[in-house]
This record gives sequence, structure tokens and C-alpha cells, in this order.
Amino acid sequence: MSDILTHIDAGVMTITFNRLDKKNSITSTMYAAMADAVAQAAADASVRVVLFQGHESIFSAGNDIGDFLNQPPSTPESPVFRFLRGIATFEKPLLAAVAGPAVGIGTTMLFHCDLVYAGDNAAFSMPFVNLGLCPEAASSLLAPRMFGYHRAAEALLMGDPFFAEAAQEVGLVNRVVPPTEVNGYAQAQARKLAGKPLSSLIETKRLMKGGYQQEVLAKMDEEGKSFGRMLREPAAKEAFGAFMEKRKPDFSKL
Ligand code: COA
Repeated sequence: MSDILTHIDAGVMTITFNRLDKKNSITSTMYAAMADAVAQAAADASVRVVLFQGHESIFSAGNDIGDFLNQPPSTPESPVFRFLRGIATFEKPLLAAVAGPAVGIGTTMLFHCDLVYAGDNAAFSMPFVNLGLCPEAASSLLAPRMFGYHRAAEALLMGDPFFAEAAQEVGLVNRVVPPTEVNGYAQAQARKLAGKPLSSLIETKRLMKGGYQQEVLAKMDEEGKSFGRMLREPAAKEAFGAFMEKRKPDFSKL
């Protein structure tokens, strides 16, 4: 079965991470599939809302580390950047249902969702510094704007996980429910939205977000250049090598 499942029903396209044995970590093939699904959802009049979901035990472990080492994103047309631009410019409502860990892009993609529901086991983290990298998905702009600077600095510089209640407090999450209920609850909310006039949904979202979309895209581009460069540098090599070898990284000389 595919690592990304897409399903359209009742006006809702549901995109499911389906790579549980690797904790729903995302390969470039998966980014390409998600970028294509989002483009299809934008073009298809029968899709009114898109919902991202994972499993009740894990949303996503973020980028597949081995895949990133083997084929680092090198151009703006790389699947990860295509996916990120797709969600940042998506005109219809985007929802996410998050249970368990949401690492790296598993958290940063949520800044581009309109409504986020979380299981009470959700653990959000943006450990880019711990991986010798820098933020992506315009999280260096959107996290300080949403959380306030100091809370964003804690999340982005320390990289420690924060949990469902804290995520709701800073405004990243709309509602916390039991993990076994989060996908169903988000699906019900998505269907409720899909029953509303699409032109009003699109115009309302545009009015809320349109004013800073260019700024978001420019930040994503700036981050993408640094991220791509840093992926090839010693700190990331050490962090990723340590992950593959299941040991602690040693940054003492970097
Ligand atoms: N890339 C590639 N493989 C990954 C992965 C990732 N980001 N995250 C987990 N996996 C793989 C593990 O290597 C392991 O594979 P194996 O069974 O072949 O050894 C399998 O998924 C299970 O992972 P494990 O770490 O044993 O699960 P866990 O439940 O103890 O922990 C996480 C889950 C998500 C907390 C932990 O896997 C993790 O921290 N992953 C890395 C997250 C990360 O740094 N992402 C990059 C962001 S840019």
C-alpha cells in the first residue's frame, strides 16, 4: 500500500500518512505525492476542504533522515518545497488531526493549516538546531508571530517537545480530544466546513491570510536556501549519522 493515502468523500480530501513502521517519516516520494494531491484538491471543484491525518500513535516523525541524506532537496522544484508552497498558497480550508509525535515538518506544516485538532498524546517539536539545521516552512516567521518571540525561541532553539495543552495555549491547536477520536472529530469538522459556501470560505481565508502570503513565501525561500546548505555541512552530517547509528551526536568540535 502507498505511504500516502488520499481519499475524497463528502467534499473532503483526506490525506493520510501511512508509513507506520518508520513512524510516518516523509520521503521525497511522499512529498511529491502530497504536493500532487494538494494541487489536485486546488483544481478539483468537488474538493472543498483538505484534511491531513496520521495514526492515533503518531502524526509524523518529519523528514525521512536517510532519504534526506541521500537526496537532499536542492532546487525550488524539489518535492518538499513544492509541497510547502502548495499548502502555503492553498485557497480552500486545510485541517489537520494530530496524535502522538509531530516532529519537524510534522509541526511546521500546521502553521499553514486553518484548523488543527490534537489528541491529548500529541507532542510537537521543531528540533532543527539539534539536527544542525535551521527552521523551514516559514516557521521562523510564523512561530514567533503565533507564540510570541520567547516561546518561539524556546521551541526553535531548544527544540524540546511541547504538548497538546501548551500547543492549544499558544494557538497552534484548536481543540484537544482523546487520540482515538482525533481523526473522526477532525473529519466531522471538515465535513461541516465542506457544507458551507465555498466562495465564502475562500474569501474569508484570503482576507485573513492574503496580506502576508508574499512574506511567508519569501521567508520559506530564504529558509530553504539555508536549510539546503546546512544539510551538507558537518553539524547535520554528525546529527544524521548519529541518528542512523542510534547514538548521541557529538557537536563539541562544531
Ligand atoms: N527518518 C527515518 N527513519 C525514522 C525517522 C525519521 N525521521 N523517525 C523514525 N524512524 C525509524 C527509526 O529509524 C526506526 O526504524 P527501525 O525500526 O528500522 O530501526 C523506526 O522508525 C521506529 O523509530 P523509533 O525511534 O524506534 O520509534 P520511537 O517510538 O522510539 O520514537 C520518534 C519515535 C518519532 C520520537 C523518534 O523516532 C524520532 O525522534 N525520530 C526522529 C525525528 C527527527 O529527528 N526527524 C527529523 C526532523 S527534520
